[in-house]
Amino acid sequence: MRGPREVGDNSDMPFPIHRPRRLRRTEGLRRLVRETALAPDDFVLPLFAVEGEGVRKPINSMPGNFQLSIDELVKECEECVSLGIGGVILFGIPKHKDERASGAYAEDGVVQQAVRALKTAYPNLTVITDVCNCEYTSHGHCGLVVDGDVANDPTLEWLAAAAVSHARAGADVVAPSDMMDGRVAAIRAALDRNGFEKVPILSYAAKYASCFYGPFRDAAESAPQFGDRRSYQMDAPNAREAMREIELDLEEGADMIMVKPALAYLDIIHEARRRFDVPIAAYQVSGEFSMIHAAARNGWIDLERAMMESLVSIRRAGADFVLTYFAREAARLL
Ligand code: PBG
Repeated sequence: MRGPREVGDNSDMPFPIHRPRRLRRTEGLRRLVRETALAPDDFVLPLFAVEGEGVRKPINSMPGNFQLSIDELVKECEECVSLGIGGVILFGIPKHKDERASGAYAEDGVVQQAVRALKTAYPNLTVITDVCNCEYTSHGHCGLVVDGDVANDPTLEWLAAAAVSHARAGADVVAPSDMMDGRVAAIRAALDRNGFEKVPILSYAAKYASCFYGPFRDAAESAPQFGDRRSYQMDAPNAREAMREIELDLEEGADMIMVKPALAYLDIIHEARRRFDVPIAAYQVSGEFSMIHAAARNGWIDLERAMMESLVSIRRAGADFVLTYFAREAARLL
C-alpha cells in the first residue's frame, strides 16, 4: 500500500504524474487533441419533393423541414451549396399512388424531375436518390404485396427500374432503402446494362425496423396501411445479422453501406467500421431529430449542443458521413 504522495515526490510510481485534465485546461488544448472533427462535407441533407409549384408545406413533427415543390427545392439547396455540405438525398411524394408504385420508376416522376432541376441549377451538388417504393404504393409497403407480404423478387424489378430512371435523370448516387434480398445485384446489373456503370450504389445495408422513422412517415406520407415492415427490415436485437447484410451487399456490388438509425445503433456502426474498408454512412433519422427538437422546445436540453454531440458521436463510432436533418444548421456552426 502506497500512502499519499508529497507534491514533487516523483520517486515511486507516483500519483500526480498522470493528470489527463492537463489537456482539458483550455479550449486551445482541447482543440489540439480533439480526435474527431466534423466538417460540412460529412453531412447529407434529406429533402422531400412534391408535385406542383410554390409549395413549401411545413412538416409539423420535424421543425424546419418542408415538403417542397421542385422550384422551392432548388431555392432550398442554394444555401446547402454555399455551405459546402456533402450532398442531399431526395425523397419523392407523388400525388398519385398505386399498387405497383408506378411513380417510383416513372421517367417524369417527382424525384426524377427534381434531380434534373437540381443538377441543372447546381452541377457540383452531389445528389443522392432514395430508391424505394413505399412513398409510391397505395398501401405504403416497400414492394409488391402478395398474400399480405411483400414479394421479394418481383419488387427487384421496380427497384432496378427506379434506380435506372434516377441515373438517367442525373443522380450522382442511388441509395436503395427497401431491404429486399438481392436488390444491390439487381440494381447494379440494370445500371450497367443501361450504360450507368459509373453510378455508385449506397446501400442501406443494415436498416432496422425502427419506431424512430415515425416523423418521416408523416413527412413522406408512407406509413404502411396494414401491418408493419418487420418481414423485411431488420430486428433491433440483431448485430451479427447486420454484418451479414453488409457483407452480402458488398458482394453484390455496393460501393458504400449505411447503418440506420444511428444513435441507437452506434455499436453496429463501430463494428462495421472495424470489419469493412468501404465508406460507411449513418442515418440520423427523423425520430432522432425530432426528439432533440422536442426536448429543446421544452427547455430540457440545449438544441445546438445536443445536435453537435449526437453528430460527433456518430462520426466517432466510425461513420464517414451522416445523413441528417441537421445538415444545414450544423454546417452553419462549423
Ligand atoms: C424508405 C425510407 C424510410 C426512411 C428512409 N427511407 C422510411 C421507412 O423505412 O419506413 C426513414 C428516414 C427517417 O426516419 O428519417 N423509403
